[in-house]
Amino acid sequence: PGETRLEGRTVLVTAGGTREPLDPVRYIGNRSSGRQGVALAEAARDRGASVTLVAAHLEVPVPTGVEVVRAETAAELLAVVTDLSPRHDLTIMAAAVSDYRPVAVSDAKIKKANTGERLTLELVQNPDILASISAEPRHGRLIVGFAAETAGDDAELLALGRAKVARKGCDFLVLNAVGWNAGFVSERNTVVVLDGAGDRVLEASGTKMSVADDILGVFAAALAASPS
Ligand code: C5P
Repeated sequence: PGETRLEGRTVLVTAGGTREPLDPVRYIGNRSSGRQGVALAEAARDRGASVTLVAAHLEVPVPTGVEVVRAETAAELLAVVTDLSPRHDLTIMAAAVSDYRPVAVSDAKIKKANTGERLTLELVQNPDILASISAEPRHGRLIVGFAAETAGDDAELLALGRAKVARKGCDFLVLNAVGWNAGFVSERNTVVVLDGAGDRVLEASGTKMSVADDILGVFAAALAASPS
C-alpha cells in the first residue's frame, strides 16, 4: 500500500519554544529547536495538505510552501490556535509551551540590586492549550499532542503517556523519550505514538524528517477512515 495522501486536507502545526517576557529585553524560554514540528509541516505539505505553521521561537528556517503565523508567548499561541484549530482537519501541537509566565512584565529593564541581594521571580501557570482545544467538539477533526518524558524504562514511559493522553483528551500522543538519543538538538528522534485510548499504535526511529512522515501516516490513515 502506498502512502495516504492529504490533498484537500488542512493541517495546523505548532512548533518551537515559547518565550515569556520579564521586561523589554529578557524572557523565560526553553531549548526546543522546532525541528520536529517543522519536519511535520514539511511532511504534511509533501503529502499534498494545505499547511499552516504556528511558529514560536525556531532554531531552523521556516519551510517554503506553508503559511506561517508567528506566536511568541503561550498566550499568543493560545489565541492563534483557538482561532485556527477548528478550521483545520488535523492539529499537531509540537510546540514546547512554557508552563509558567511571570506574574507581571516590567515596562523598564529590571535593575540589578545591591551586591549579594537575591531576586525572586513570581510565576503563574499558563493555560493548557492542548487540553483546552481537545475539550471542544471535534466533528471528525483530529488533535495530536506531544510529550517529552524522562522515564526510567519503557513501562514507565508508557504509563506516563497513557495518563497524559487521558488528562489532555487528545486523539493521539507522540511520546518522545528524552535520553533514547542525543537529545533536544539532535537531528534524529525515537518516538512512540499512542492513540486516544492509550494503546501503542506506532514506534518510529530515524531522522526527524523520516519520523515526521511515519507518524503523519498514522494521522492521514485515521483522517481517511473518519467521515469528513
Ligand atoms: O504537559 P506537557 O507539557 O508535557 O504536554 C505537552 C503537550 O501539551 C504538547 O503537545 C504541548 O504543545 C502541549 N501544551 C499546551 N499548553 C501548555 C503546555 C503544553 O498545549 N500550556
